[in-house]
Amino acid sequence: MSLLHEVSIGNVSLSSNLFLAPLAGYTDKVYRSICLHHGAALAYTEMVSSEGVARDSAKTVMLMERGEGEVNLAVQLFMPDADTAGRSLEGVMAYKPAIIDINCGCPVPKVVKTGAGSALLQNPKTIHEIVKTIVQNVDVPVTVKIRTGWDTNSINYLETASLAFDAGASALCMHARTRSQLYMPTAHWKLLSDLKRHFPDKVIIGSGDLFTAEDGVRMLQETGVDAISFARGAIGNPFIFEQTKALLCGKVPREISVEEKIEAIMIHLRGLVDFLGERTACREMRKHVCAYLKGIPNSAKARQEVTGALTVHEYEDALSHLILTRYSGKSL
Ligand SMILES: Cc1cc2nc3c(=O)[nH]c(=O)nc-3n(C[C@H](O)[C@H](O)[C@H](O)COP(=O)(O)O)c2cc1C
Repeated sequence: MSLLHEVSIGNVSLSSNLFLAPLAGYTDKVYRSICLHHGAALAYTEMVSSEGVARDSAKTVMLMERGEGEVNLAVQLFMPDADTAGRSLEGVMAYKPAIIDINCGCPVPKVVKTGAGSALLQNPKTIHEIVKTIVQNVDVPVTVKIRTGWDTNSINYLETASLAFDAGASALCMHARTRSQLYMPTAHWKLLSDLKRHFPDKVIIGSGDLFTAEDGVRMLQETGVDAISFARGAIGNPFIFEQTKALLCGKVPREISVEEKIEAIMIHLRGLVDFLGERTACREMRKHVCAYLKGIPNSAKARQEVTGALTVHEYEDALSHLILTRYSGKSL
């Protein structure tokens, strides 16, 4: 089989095996739509608190709103136990997700101290209970996102995966680091190969150190995972999906021009304005812009200017200045 292929997660058929990972603070409905437009086959919401959904918190439930053109909404939930998961399901299903994902990897102390996120890796039986409860109560596939273990002395991904699949999980994504490693040392891709070897008939999704299209191809080649999930590599770079697709089809990925990046920024910003209102959108957009402009010569001034921008017009000014600088540079 070609490395680029369709994937089915339960009853959900996806056009390819290139996904956008859940990213708190980044994968809102606007950015998910942009990545889907550029070739991601599935885009996960950022982690959504089951407790917040159960309490019908407006700030929480808005994270589950469907993006434009988002056919298969994949909602990621975090919770400490099956009871909390169960209490949130009515609220979650009101948003008609195609897939529900369980976060068992978040390392943030605020989350871990409640028993959720990667704390669940220390209690894999709880993961089994959570998955079972959700599978029994909804008719959409459930996926699980784990890390390799809590720390290097407690690597337990095979046990966790086995319990998740026994409980009815339709796919499992592994970020190939422990909780203690956070995001820093090189991801341990060999453990992804091992996981796939142990579960040849299950859908395994790989995560960790996918910063370029070449990384995506390499992970598919080296580990045998069924699908890959771009995270930090997709921040400010929605083009990574089409670039990976091109490489996997034996083509040279096209260069993305500065003008095209600026156009993508403005589409992204206008989408956020519709979702959040102009001032909040302009604030939210700053971190994205810094990522979009990374590596572009002479972009420091534009980056600095958008940190103070509170209107779309100010963004346009800051960015047009960047294009003018480049043009004047070219004519010298
Ligand atoms: C800013 C940020 C936010 C993240 N938020 C989530 C999240 O909400 N849920 C989740 O399962 N993983 C989350 N992750 C982990 C990523 O999905 C991914 O597994 C991890 O970054 C490893 O991939 P990478 O090395 O290619 O970035 C987050 C990572 C980052 C950097």
